Amino acid sequence: MARPVLRAALALRTIPAHNSANSPPGEQTEERMKKIAVVLAFAIVAFALLAIPLVAGEAEGKAVYASKCAMCHGADGVAKEMIAKKGARNFNDPAWQKEKTDEALTAAITDGIKEKGMPAYKEKLKAEEIQDLVKFVRTLAPAVKK
Ligand code: HEC
Repeated sequence: MARPVLRAALALRTIPAHNSANSPPGEQTEERMKKIAVVLAFAIVAFALLAIPLVAGEAEGKAVYASKCAMCHGADGVAKEMIAKKGARNFNDPAWQKEKTDEALTAAITDGIKEKGMPAYKEKLKAEEIQDLVKFVRTLAPAVKK
């Protein structure tokens, strides 16, 4: 008499506890939501990783500028007296920002302007660091600063 009951119990145990194909629709939706959440989380992390270098370039530029350029060009881009006297312009001047291309800034920093007293940085800085400086100098424009 006890035998058929025991056999039925054993048979039941062989059925997998969680078979997604047979599970109720509610559970399937829940699994799909979990998958979407995982994909979204990856997308957000990937986007953040892509965005960091852009911000980092500017921050790097700021640090180099503070240590190598600010003594002449001023932390805020207003030229110090000793170079202003020689005709150096202010980096926070909107007209100056408009007039100068990124290429012109890169060339000035890379090769210097010997006759005016702007040192060349091609031996002292990597091309990448010079680009970070150009990016930072652009942030000194009042329109960007606001
Ligand atoms: C010893 C002082 C001195 C230092 C240090 C210095 N500069 Fe200059 N810089 C000058 C002078 C002087 C000029 C020439 C200004 C002119 O042409 O009217 C100049 C010109 C420039 C120009 C071209 C400006 C223009 O109007 O075309 C840029 C860009 C520049 N400097 C960026 C930098 C950066 C970035 C650094 C730091 C890596 C730096 N400078 C360090 C003195 C300096």
